[in-house]
Amino acid sequence: MTAGRGRALVRVDGLTKSFGATRALDSVSLTIHPGEVLAVVGHNGSGKSTLVKILAGFHTADGGSIGLRDGAGPPTELRFIHQDLGLVETMSTLENLGLGGRHGRSPWLPLRRAAERRVARQLVGQFGVDFDVDAPVRELSPAERTIVAIARALQGWDEAETMLLVLDEPTAALHGAEVERLMAVVRRVAERGAGVLFISHRLDEVLGVADTVLALRNGRVVGHLPCSDTDYAGLVDLVAGGSVDSLERRDTERGAAVLRVRGLAGRSIRGLDVTVHAGEIVGVAGILGSGRDELCAMVFGGHPRDSGVVELAGHPLAPGDLRGAIRRGAAFVPGDRHQDGAVMTMTGVENLMAVRVPGAESRWRRLRKGHEAREAATWFSTCGVVPAAPEMELARFSGGNQQKVVLAKWLRTRPRLLLLEEPTQGVDVGAKALIHRLIATTAGEGTAVLVASSEAKELAELCDRVLVLADGVLVAELQGADLTEFRVLHASVPA
Ligand SMILES: Nc1ncnc2c1ncn2[C@@H]1O[C@H](COP(=O)(O)OP(=O)(O)OP(=O)(O)O)[C@@H](O)[C@H]1O
Ligand SMILES: [Mg+2]
Repeated sequence: MTAGRGRALVRVDGLTKSFGATRALDSVSLTIHPGEVLAVVGHNGSGKSTLVKILAGFHTADGGSIGLRDGAGPPTELRFIHQDLGLVETMSTLENLGLGGRHGRSPWLPLRRAAERRVARQLVGQFGVDFDVDAPVRELSPAERTIVAIARALQGWDEAETMLLVLDEPTAALHGAEVERLMAVVRRVAERGAGVLFISHRLDEVLGVADTVLALRNGRVVGHLPCSDTDYAGLVDLVAGGSVDSLERRDTERGAAVLRVRGLAGRSIRGLDVTVHAGEIVGVAGILGSGRDELCAMVFGGHPRDSGVVELAGHPLAPGDLRGAIRRGAAFVPGDRHQDGAVMTMTGVENLMAVRVPGAESRWRRLRKGHEAREAATWFSTCGVVPAAPEMELARFSGGNQQKVVLAKWLRTRPRLLLLEEPTQGVDVGAKALIHRLIATTAGEGTAVLVASSEAKELAELCDRVLVLADGVLVAELQGADLTEFRVLHASVPA
């Protein structure tokens, strides 16, 4: 452990911030030294992003101070990867990296472009991925977008001496191998003498990379200790205020086939057959580019297909016909709530009610307001949304609570087929257990569930069967005693 040497890069003292009646931060103090990786953990809404946003100057604190290496030497330079990444969706990777600007009509233009493209590919290549750096960022998968944001924050890193890299849940959309690469980068950055403030709900990851951990609960520091002084159970206790029950394995009652996919191809998927029965939870695993994060959207109809047939209870689902899919009973929780899952400027209740429940909506509009409020309150409580304020704009909820609203919106439709991408991304350990129970209950009521996740542990715990994809084809199908986290990870990584 290299923490503790030299004077602090950042010293935060008694930071306090309220939003109306919510005290997001309550007298929070911390220091980060050169070479130190500090992990900040805490339940959804505990104040982690608020802390980051104050450091970034996005919010002003009500009280307290932030010292950036005062005294001799240059002040600490802060770099951020925010929870919502902050990329310009319509611009390409190249442009988001600040490359590929306008160069007028220089005769050297084509050469310069090629060089810039090479730099961009190199930057994202550190993470073992290779994608079209000229494509608009909105066409990339959530994991690819994360990598663009990380690459941007790390640009020119080598020349800098006194830096603090701040990452707000950078791994929410990343798979095991990609996470490992990011963690290696984080360690490298710290070894060069920079500091890292790192937020994560994946507590095993925290133990693997951090030197020290700071735990927040309702805006207060409830723990600040070296990682070597704690373990997984200790962190769960700090975050959840007690232990968390894992999901009891259920006896599956497999009903009739609900989803039948035959010969599906498009983007990275090359000829897939998938069947999901009523009551069954089927997982989709695989690394970036395996097709894992495209299957659900393609089934739902949001992504184009090159060929193949998708049937829900015997009826074909056509690509592009999302309404038709919903009418037939499909629901889709996308991996990127900012882009497709929710409207941040609308209230919680408006987001919740945004999907019309087939056959269940009253025409008595006048009665609807009160009815909606009651229904929203019920769903917010079922899905553990905090604060229970359906009238609040979605952007004001913490990241994990936004995720719960998106899940609630689709569970409310009582779907026949539930398609989930990263259903617990950004969600704390306690809420994750709750969401797993909700998914299991939904399946228990006869819904067919197809769930894609970058987290092997989640799939092993939640699913009856897991399909492992590599290069767009099925490479393994695991169930029963074969369905373990290790096997899922092992099968996902190409030999
Ligand atoms: N702009 C805002 N207006 C009103 N309330 C806000 C605003 N931003 C944050 N809050 C509230 O402050 C509290 C802390 O939110 P914050 O985003 O810091 O949580 P977090 O620890 O990052 O949670 P998560 O793990 O879900 O990302 C929450 O109750 C949230 O609803
Ligand atoms: Mg947050």
